[in-house]
Amino acid sequence: MDIKKLFGYEGKTVVITGSASGMSRSATKLLLELGAKVYAIDINPIDLPVTKSYQVDLSKKEEIDKLCDELPDKIDALFLCHGIAFFKGKELLVQKVNFYGQKYMTEVLLDRISDHGSITYISSVGGFGWQQVYDKCVELINLPTWADAIKWYEKHPELIKSAYVFAKQSLLSYVTYKCMDPKFINRKIRINAINPGDTITGLTDDFNKSTSPTNDAKEGEKMIENIFLKSWNGYPAKPEDMGYPMVVIGSDICSYMSGQLIYIDYGLTSSWTSASLLNSNNKTIEEISSDSQK
Ligand SMILES: NC(=O)c1ccc[n+]([C@@H]2O[C@H](COP(=O)([O-])OP(=O)(O)OC[C@H]3O[C@@H](n4cnc5c(N)ncnc54)[C@H](O)[C@@H]3O)[C@@H](O)[C@H]2O)c1
Repeated sequence: MDIKKLFGYEGKTVVITGSASGMSRSATKLLLELGAKVYAIDINPIDLPVTKSYQVDLSKKEEIDKLCDELPDKIDALFLCHGIAFFKGKELLVQKVNFYGQKYMTEVLLDRISDHGSITYISSVGGFGWQQVYDKCVELINLPTWADAIKWYEKHPELIKSAYVFAKQSLLSYVTYKCMDPKFINRKIRINAINPGDTITGLTDDFNKSTSPTNDAKEGEKMIENIFLKSWNGYPAKPEDMGYPMVVIGSDICSYMSGQLIYIDYGLTSSWTSASLLNSNNKTIEEISSDSQK
């Protein structure tokens, strides 16, 4: 069996964001190995031998518009992987980087995605419980313009207070809502997201700092360990543990998979679901996690 043929990336045009670091960098390397023509984008320089790289701030509508003008006319697979951690005062920036800019870029490029093409996002276990805000997310998703979305965010400070969580929940809602949208399904464009658990990447230090109430990286690291790793005596993932499965999901191997929110967390969120189904309704992630350690 020809493994490259099985993946189906050989000679195909792939656009991927966040390639300078972490999960996306590992995915980009594998895509190159599999013979794809890779157009890679990041706010930082990308040191991989891609077909073309672009240094763009994907929080900015004008920069996304200019980038999309320069990207190829036909795209077989799109991977939206860039992201940032949340620090107080950056609520709106986190929405733009981690969700709204990704939705916007998807919709600007949609006509250029091939029939039977794929779109894959990186959300997070942090988006767990997205169903509780689905109606609000759909309201946001249906707003016609970028400016409308910004106004909407400004009117909903309570929702974007947990900025990282809400942006990731929005992304999961988007996949759920759009997979059967005629603009996607009529051309058999598949749309999925992965939800990584704790992974050592370029974001680790920021996640540690932002988790601690005093921005203390050591304290934050301990807190993350308690929430994400302690319950299963676990260990953090490597970028490849996320980047490689994501490449598989966007490939022909998964040609019948769409609308899926794939948790890559060694079963952690399943243990939260189990605890919640058995006895923990309306508890926070931290409370459910601590229950499942008992
Ligand atoms: N690391 C984890 O534990 C973890 C867990 C769950 C989800 N995630 C998500 O995984 C995705 C990948 O992150 P990672 O962990 O590999 O981190 P990373 O920092 O190694 O990679 C993220 C990349 O996004 C780029 N980026 C950030 N802001 C940008 C902007 N405005 N415009 C263009 N590029 C920008 C960064 O330069 C970086 O190269 C993110 O969406 C993150 O939220 C990470």
